[in-house]
Amino acid sequence: MNKKDLHPESLMMSFGYQPELSEGAVKCPVFQTSTYAFKTAEEGKAYFELAYGLRDAQPSEEMGLIYSRLNTPNMEILENRMGLWDKAEDCAVFDSGMAAISTIFLAYLKPGDTLLYNQPLYGGTVHFIEHILPSMGINIVEFDAWDDPKEVMKGIRQKGQGDSLKMVYLETPTNPTNHLIDIEAYCNLAKEFSTEDKKVLVTVDNTYLGPMWQHPLQVGADLVVYSATKFFGGHSDLIAGAVMGNTQWIAKIKEMRVFLGNMPAPWTCWLLLRSLETLKMRMERQEKNTREVAKFLHHHPKVKTIHYLGFEEDMDARTRRIYRKQCSAPGSMIAFEVRGGEAGAFAFLNNLHLIKLAVSLGSTESLVQHPASMTHAGMDPDERDRLGITDELVRLSIGVEHPDDLIMDIRQALSDV
Ligand SMILES: Cc1ncc(COP(=O)(O)O)c(C=O)c1O
Repeated sequence: MNKKDLHPESLMMSFGYQPELSEGAVKCPVFQTSTYAFKTAEEGKAYFELAYGLRDAQPSEEMGLIYSRLNTPNMEILENRMGLWDKAEDCAVFDSGMAAISTIFLAYLKPGDTLLYNQPLYGGTVHFIEHILPSMGINIVEFDAWDDPKEVMKGIRQKGQGDSLKMVYLETPTNPTNHLIDIEAYCNLAKEFSTEDKKVLVTVDNTYLGPMWQHPLQVGADLVVYSATKFFGGHSDLIAGAVMGNTQWIAKIKEMRVFLGNMPAPWTCWLLLRSLETLKMRMERQEKNTREVAKFLHHHPKVKTIHYLGFEEDMDARTRRIYRKQCSAPGSMIAFEVRGGEAGAFAFLNNLHLIKLAVSLGSTESLVQHPASMTHAGMDPDERDRLGITDELVRLSIGVEHPDDLIMDIRQALSDV
């Protein structure tokens, strides 16, 4: 039986782990050690030669364990398993989603390069792009999620930014407004500006729908990045990140990780391995619950607008076309405006009993937050409003509770607004 032919959910308990190497333990133990003993000096030398790329590996030669900043069994097994969902050749894990995102930029952008990115976007990513990258001499060019890619391409040409374009960074669906961006169209744009010496890479933050409901690598993206704090971890008890793609692209990211030292600790990797076993079940249940909650909110008199990907009949033609092309389910994120301005939104948030008022998403428990004053507080208020992140907007991440209880909580919270 070729294990790679099995479904990812069947492999999450075993792939990449050999019990005989760990006293027969069915579960991979936590390798709580900072360093590994070499059998001989020659072995240590050989491992370092491979680690530093001083020579190519011999056929069937594998790099051994050296030091926990470079590699650990927990990290290697985790990377092998996580990548299966996206059918990625390789995966690199990090100690946060932001560590994964910033390491991609540091590995691939240099002074003079241009980064094209969408808005709206997760607030931390916006901060890194707009406040840190320019100080390193990197040009940043923003577009709106709903812009026509052909117009975006024309704008880049007209402003003479094509030669320096090095990366297209997409977050789709966007956090917190659930706008969709056509990944394939931006891969075509990247191809237009790629030359023999310069490949324009397309990176997609797939935190909102991945790894179950959207697979950017399959529609042409080069790198897919995750806050693994969210659905991968799934229990609000760890912070982690991951990047996936072809071995060639991930190698440079792993090299940067060795020197930034932003890899996850063995215990975090162990927790993620535990979480992977229930990932599909959790995401399916969350998605089903969200359909029920969204149905309740859809025509509620206190709800002004709702951003949810499960109402195909309400979508404009552009969004529907993209949804059908690249998404297989609407996921478990809803953003909606509560009538009554910030006061109305805050009253709703303060009235909830079961749903927790906390940032983050993708966990077993439902969470709610107020993007304008929390995750996106660092943005210019006019720009926030323009992008639909209004004072009335709240963001819900639906968990695995009974949907009737979630609806009961939301009903009573809205009734007092
Ligand atoms: C879409 C998205 N990307 C990236 C991140 C950053 O991840 P982390 O908090 O794990 O650093 C977040 C965090 O909320 C997010 O929502």
